Amino acid sequence: MGCHIEVLFTPAEFHALRGRDLGGTTCVVFDILRATSTIVTGLANGAAGFMPVEEISEALAMRRRRPDVLLAGERDGLRIGGALSGGVEFDLGNSPREFTPEKVGGRMIISTTTNGTRALRSCLSAQAVVVASFLNLSRSVDYVVGRQPSRLLLVCAGTGEHAALEDTLTAGAFCEQATRHQPAWELLDSARIALQAYEHASGNLSSAINGAENARRLLANPLLRDDVEFCLRRDLHPIIALMTPEGVVQRC
Ligand code: MLT
Repeated sequence: MGCHIEVLFTPAEFHALRGRDLGGTTCVVFDILRATSTIVTGLANGAAGFMPVEEISEALAMRRRRPDVLLAGERDGLRIGGALSGGVEFDLGNSPREFTPEKVGGRMIISTTTNGTRALRSCLSAQAVVVASFLNLSRSVDYVVGRQPSRLLLVCAGTGEHAALEDTLTAGAFCEQATRHQPAWELLDSARIALQAYEHASGNLSSAINGAENARRLLANPLLRDDVEFCLRRDLHPIIALMTPEGVVQRC
């Protein structure tokens, strides 16, 4: 049976997923700068798992129940400090380069970010939820192609309330690779938009993404600017990352 591929571009679209029946749908979530890139890197470096939550208060409540967890996340791109969390300094921000084996090996990480963790939570009722990035793109495509889903939803986390160019281009790259394996898969117009945007930009992808709103914000910060180049390293971490129905992202 053929697969229909659809792309969601903005938070308004993924927020609406909570009202949709996703029982027969595989969701692939992209937040390239930086939430899904960071989760994939942390898992590749030995983290036991990630629990994405929407609010800082949820992360703090989880730490009170489980003092062994690490707290990670950002607001405005910066690690969450005591001013936002009632005095609790988070252990990590949202830069994938912080999530080293020494720091995260064997640890469960509670993460809250501006868009990426919300996009993940919006997909909780899906038949399967794949956490994807450029860092694990090919493995993610192979996994999804192997599942032969009837409906495939590529969820872009976006920036603020708007579409994010980097997420859209990665969704397009996913479509390009998937339809090479499965030429009969049907692309809805939203997927065709992402694919054609990727095909237009693929000749100089880093230049295209450096112009994205989120990339420009990171590039302007000396402590964060190297995250952009890092998050574009295609297939650096060839792992599969799946979110369970309980909301835990694990390496498979
Ligand atoms: C997000 O979740 O909106 C992004 O990952 C933000 C960031 O990492 O700066």
